[in-house]
Amino acid sequence: MKTVRVQLDKNGYDINIGIGLLGQIGTILNQIGFNDKLVIITDNKVKALYGNKLKQDMNANGFKADILDIPEGEEQKSLETAGRLYYELTNLYAERNTPVLALGGGVIGDLAGFVAATFMRGVPLVQIPTTLLSQGDSSIGGKVAVNHGQLKNKIGAFYHPKLTITDINTLKTLSAREISNGMAEIIKHGAILDADFFSYIENNIEKIRNLDEKVIVQLVTRSAEIKAGIVEKDELDLGLRNVLNNGHNIGHAIEAVSGLKVWHGEAVAIGMLTEARISNKMDILDKSEVERLKNLIIKTGLPTELPDYKIEDMMQAVKHDKKVLQGKLRFALLKSIGEVYLTDEVSLSLVEEVLNERDE
Ligand SMILES: NC(=O)c1ccc[n+]([C@@H]2O[C@H](COP(=O)([O-])OP(=O)(O)OC[C@H]3O[C@@H](n4cnc5c(N)ncnc54)[C@H](O)[C@@H]3O)[C@@H](O)[C@H]2O)c1
Ligand SMILES: [Zn+2]
Repeated sequence: MKTVRVQLDKNGYDINIGIGLLGQIGTILNQIGFNDKLVIITDNKVKALYGNKLKQDMNANGFKADILDIPEGEEQKSLETAGRLYYELTNLYAERNTPVLALGGGVIGDLAGFVAATFMRGVPLVQIPTTLLSQGDSSIGGKVAVNHGQLKNKIGAFYHPKLTITDINTLKTLSAREISNGMAEIIKHGAILDADFFSYIENNIEKIRNLDEKVIVQLVTRSAEIKAGIVEKDELDLGLRNVLNNGHNIGHAIEAVSGLKVWHGEAVAIGMLTEARISNKMDILDKSEVERLKNLIIKTGLPTELPDYKIEDMMQAVKHDKKVLQGKLRFALLKSIGEVYLTDEVSLSLVEEVLNERDE
């Protein structure tokens, strides 16, 4: 088992990453002082795959475990579902010290995290991410949220777990598309901050796609370390965390224009490449680095282009996503593979020019 420590201003917590950790959760929770009542929040798919078994195991280990499940899908990240969960927690006599175990992908991590942050002004949270996206990215950083109308992730809190337990065995039940989708942010972590990690991914991409256990543990661990390193320096997202936004200005616009048909990681992959081209046009990123990024995205099974969209729609979405200051947007662009910089110097006309060129 690998452990990544997230050291925050006031407290800190560990991310445990390993193979088969789901079977050891009782012991792991005992070590941090939990031994009684707890509530697992999950979605119905993950419940059938892992939740029911986890509940049984916990009860066999002396816990009093209950399980609450919601339908799967992004639509459940709502105040309405959170409201239902508050009622159900109350019906289960959950108390201020009753831990919530968020078992699932990013939707569950965000929603159950939000519920844990707000129920009784905060109950202990344990994250148990089960998708590659949540293991390598979304479960790290303490951002929990629900959507509200058009406001995606805008109703939320910073709320860190007491512990994160990442069992890479759970990835085996994901589709190949889910694995590729989860790779985008992991590639981003290498691209913005760690050239050696980027090379590691390039050299191991086949093993990654085949879920080679050792390689996946290494991959998720390094990804968690990189994100934790940024979070530690900017817990409340006041500046430095902006570097994690690489690929996201264009990525968010793609998600909006595609009507969410393109998944988040897929949109970020196209966004990273488009933004790399923007950096190249500004004479900052070398063309060969753009090609390197593109090759890795392709080898990962991620898209490089959104097939059919209208440039006007994309531009509208780009402007809508972030405040535009005097025609300029803040971007986190690559200087080289492994090095990122923040800039307000990207003009809307340059964005439009690059979108118009598409793939050469
Ligand atoms: N908080 C953050 O910092 C942050 C960062 C990035 C993304 N997010 C959020 O994460 C969400 C996306 O996360 P996601 O891609 O994990 O989505 P998800 O939670 O919807 O999971 C995707 C699908 O996989 C299923 N699933 C989960 N684990 C499985 C397993 N082990 N085997 C088989 N199926 C499994 C789920 O039931 C679901 O159908 C979005 O809501 C996004 O806003 C949050
Ligand atoms: Zn993202």
